[in-house]
Amino acid sequence: MSARINPSILSADFANFERDFNSISNADLIHVDVMDNHFVPNLTFGLPMVTRMQQITPKPLDVHLMIDDVDRWAAGYAETGAYSVTFHAEASDNPVALARKLRAIGARAGVAIKPGTAVEGFLDDLAEFDQLLVMTVEPGFGGQSLIEETLNKVSAARRRINTEKLDVWLQVDGGIDESNIERVAIAGADTFVAGSAVFKAQDRAKQIENLRNLAESGIKHRH
Ligand code: DX5
Ligand code: ZN
Repeated sequence: MSARINPSILSADFANFERDFNSISNADLIHVDVMDNHFVPNLTFGLPMVTRMQQITPKPLDVHLMIDDVDRWAAGYAETGAYSVTFHAEASDNPVALARKLRAIGARAGVAIKPGTAVEGFLDDLAEFDQLLVMTVEPGFGGQSLIEETLNKVSAARRRINTEKLDVWLQVDGGIDESNIERVAIAGADTFVAGSAVFKAQDRAKQIENLRNLAESGIKHRH
């Protein structure tokens, strides 16, 4: 199993996305944080920007919706052609129905849970999703420290994915850097979002490579 490194452009220069996308050309996917100032106390961008981003990069977009009322809005992001659309379970009345809708449009469907949301309620339905995103910080801002307790949820989800041999990506987002990515991989993640750890590096491509090597070493040493 290989590790995916998805740089979060929340830490990019919002006036120079094209230049910054070019600096991460060895990324697996580009993680795009959509925030509405309601679900989280921060505001980024919406549909027109996500549409435009796809025209300036050949990379698949990993859209992370931190917005309310996803049952109404998430489909629009899938309709832009985004490769993957992840919505928060806390913002949906029916996550399974919404995932089915996203898949029918042609996107990979992801469900995200905040640090305070238990994972147990989602384990029986994992096959309905292409990705489970376990938030390792409170969503809203880059540059926070990883909340250790969230890794128990990563391990619980990994056990279920392996037992049932599911094809579900297990993503972590928040506070991931070179000091912890290996043990987060050991805990069970295979898809890693990194914002500040990538964008503050002198050589971003080299940092992505470094993070991927550490993650793959962690995956290899899982017990
Ligand atoms: C936070 C966002 C993250 C953020 C991560 O709510 O979902 O994607 O960019 O940033 P770092 O890697 O700096 O914690
Ligand atoms: Zn994110």
